[in-house]
Amino acid sequence: RRPVHRLFRCAGTVAADLKGEEQLPGSVEPDSQDKILKKRFSEVQKERREQAQRTVLINCPNKISEKKFIKYISQHGPINSHFFYESFGLHAVIEFCQKESVASLQDAVCTPNLGTETAIPFRSRFFNLKWTNPLNPGSEQPNVQCSNQLPPASKKLFQLLCRAESMDDQLNTLLKEFQITEENAKLRHLTCSLIEDIAAAYLPDCTVRPFGSSVNSFGKLGCDLDMFLDLDETGRLNPGKTSGHFQMEFQVKSVPSERIATQKILSVIGECLDHFGPGCVGVQKILNARCPLVRFSQQASGFQCDLTSNNRIALKSSELLYMYGTLDSRVRALVFSIRCWARAHSLTSSIPGAWITNFSLTMMVIFFLQRRSPPLLPTLDYLKTLADEGDQCVIEGHNCTFTSDLNRIKPSGNTETLELLLMEFFEYFGNFAFNKNSINIRQGREQNKPESSPLHIQNPFETSLNVSKNVNQSQLQKFVDLARESAWILQQEDKARPSSASHQPWGLAALLLPSVSHSKSLARKKRKKPASERIRNLLDSIKSSGKEQ
Ligand code: CTP
Ligand code: MG
Repeated sequence: RRPVHRLFRCAGTVAADLKGEEQLPGSVEPDSQDKILKKRFSEVQKERREQAQRTVLINCPNKISEKKFIKYISQHGPINSHFFYESFGLHAVIEFCQKESVASLQDAVCTPNLGTETAIPFRSRFFNLKWTNPLNPGSEQPNVQCSNQLPPASKKLFQLLCRAESMDDQLNTLLKEFQITEENAKLRHLTCSLIEDIAAAYLPDCTVRPFGSSVNSFGKLGCDLDMFLDLDETGRLNPGKTSGHFQMEFQVKSVPSERIATQKILSVIGECLDHFGPGCVGVQKILNARCPLVRFSQQASGFQCDLTSNNRIALKSSELLYMYGTLDSRVRALVFSIRCWARAHSLTSSIPGAWITNFSLTMMVIFFLQRRSPPLLPTLDYLKTLADEGDQCVIEGHNCTFTSDLNRIKPSGNTETLELLLMEFFEYFGNFAFNKNSINIRQGREQNKPESSPLHIQNPFETSLNVSKNVNQSQLQKFVDLARESAWILQQEDKARPSSASHQPWGLAALLLPSVSHSKSLARKKRKKPASERIRNLLDSIKSSGKEQ
């Protein structure tokens, strides 16, 4: 017999799918996605935030019985959902039905006695579960199933892709394997909520919101967690209440600019994370960047975190990308495949540098889809014309207005297949006049480049900024060469597709293999400069591991 709470959850999830409730757009089957009523970004974020506030994180001993554990935790109130995962040990995420249960649990928990070391007391929602008698932890067999938080290994991905029935099937398979799962989304929001608790020690009314790929519908398992420390609800922007002749303000310290204020706040929060944050390690303050940030790892969740402040525009651009990703199921499938393709060919990297970023690639795909005939995606200017009173938004003088209601946007009449779109994407950017044109999703048209950067993608809201200013000519050339080569591979494929029994990498799988021109250039380098034995061996091993992949 299945436990009752499981049955309810299953029924709830099916009903939620139909109404577009509870699940992130990422977790809905691609075909049904277009038909359901779509939620606003702000609604999804509000629900996730409220859910995270009822949730706790518990580090558990390895050999634990799920049934006994859940019974023990349920003393503090009914549990809505739970799951286990591995990251530096076994962890459980417990979502209570009510917030009060968290306080009840906290009241029953003590600060540990660490023996030779001294604990810095901090009352968080991150706990350690221990056996009362470690020598006799109970007789039941451990039966915990762990949910996966990582993308598939490349071998598994290749197998799945080779087994697919069509290229469209391949692109949808890749999306399904890489997209952020329901559990991963919960863990991301919980991590923000835990960081908010730490920041709230200094700034009681602050909010820590996720932005970027964790919430813009284009995140893949394993991507970083971008967070934004929102202080606007601390009353900073409110005009303040007047009564008769008087008005009261807080006494405050002042600094010469908004940037310095942000740097000071992030510096203090960085110290807090370093000194008090359970599980926060490797805290780096990068305060002189254009957008100052604190970078750290949250060991228990396994996320690399970037905490910024005063970054409302980035949150707005996450909302815009969410709209585009949710409008038509082909958008995310295409973006995920192109991001994977770029990663497989080292066009993108986790290290900052002159490479194209995932954000730039996403903008390029959106632009390409706006250029189809008929357009698959509307322009940002069109989304602005659909905005109502509540959507009006100006941040630091930049007009960020666009409709937040996805249901106002008519579905596109474009019926092109993913296979065709992928091939056309490579063809389009393989021949794009990057030397004179800029990519502009606001107008959905090429514009003359306002400056000489090799790749120019206009920031949709801060229109004087180039999203891809970091990209140098040689990285752009590499992108163009690979795009041309990939278009060519797909055209050849079309003529002679191997039978599925042959197990030859085909379609998308063939595109993710190391490129022909790259192997040729390696061979050329090898010929030109007779390398030492060690380097030659290294090159050979790179080539053969590439082939294996
Ligand atoms: N951003 C921006 N301009 C840039 C870089 C980033 O506006 N030149 C904003 C975007 O909203 C972006 C977010 O900052 O989504 C986070 O940046 P980043 O982590 O680099 O990109 P992600 O979209 O999160 O993609 P990834 O999965 O690679 O982290
Ligand atoms: Mg990111």
